[in-house]
Amino acid sequence: MKIAPSILSADFGKLAEEVKVICNAGADFIHVDVMDGHFVPNMTMGPMIVEAVSKASTKPLDIHFMVENIPFFVDMYAHIKPEFITFHIEEEKHINRVIQQIRNYDIRPGVVLNPATPVSLLEYIVADVDMVLLMSVNPGFGGQKFIPSVIDKIKELRELAIKKNPNLLIEVDGGVNDKNAKLLKEAGADILVAGSFVFKSNDYKKAIESLR
Ligand code: DX5
Ligand code: ZN
Repeated sequence: MKIAPSILSADFGKLAEEVKVICNAGADFIHVDVMDGHFVPNMTMGPMIVEAVSKASTKPLDIHFMVENIPFFVDMYAHIKPEFITFHIEEEKHINRVIQQIRNYDIRPGVVLNPATPVSLLEYIVADVDMVLLMSVNPGFGGQKFIPSVIDKIKELRELAIKKNPNLLIEVDGGVNDKNAKLLKEAGADILVAGSFVFKSNDYKKAIESLR
């Protein structure tokens, strides 16, 4: 199981330091939540801050866009060269075009589903992405309560992926902790995002290990 700590819950007063510490504590990716104050009622990091995170990080970045006007954001953040860029399908009419736009930058594309968005919408897109991120909270904030219906969605997506994209990575984001991590793993998740569970603990390494 890969773990992608979400730096949204880190101490932004010492962001570079937090990134270095979490990399050394065993993070596989650094999950970066980009919010625009429109798609979600919160704002986070512009490209200059994400660039600073990238410079401090020894691990690849996993950028999660919670934004409107996705193609504009892809162009604005692509030079940072994250491993992944994921975007919400609820927001994008031309999903294939944006996937291709991300690939043209040599970045691995993924799509994100809100908790109420059905897996069936992925039928004709799942073969074209490297990752699907299933939200287990409504996006916008760290520290929210886990929505358990994501477990069935992971299973359903795993079934679909076996047929259409056996290499698909399934990532889960929101309210992940040491209580639900095992269930998520058994259901078929490959990568767990965790913000408050890791950054509010007093031992990051232990917290990451307990999720694995
Ligand atoms: C929520 C973000 C998450 C968030 C997770 O909108 O997408 O990545 O940081 O935080 P926790 O793990 O505290 O729910
Ligand atoms: Zn996220």
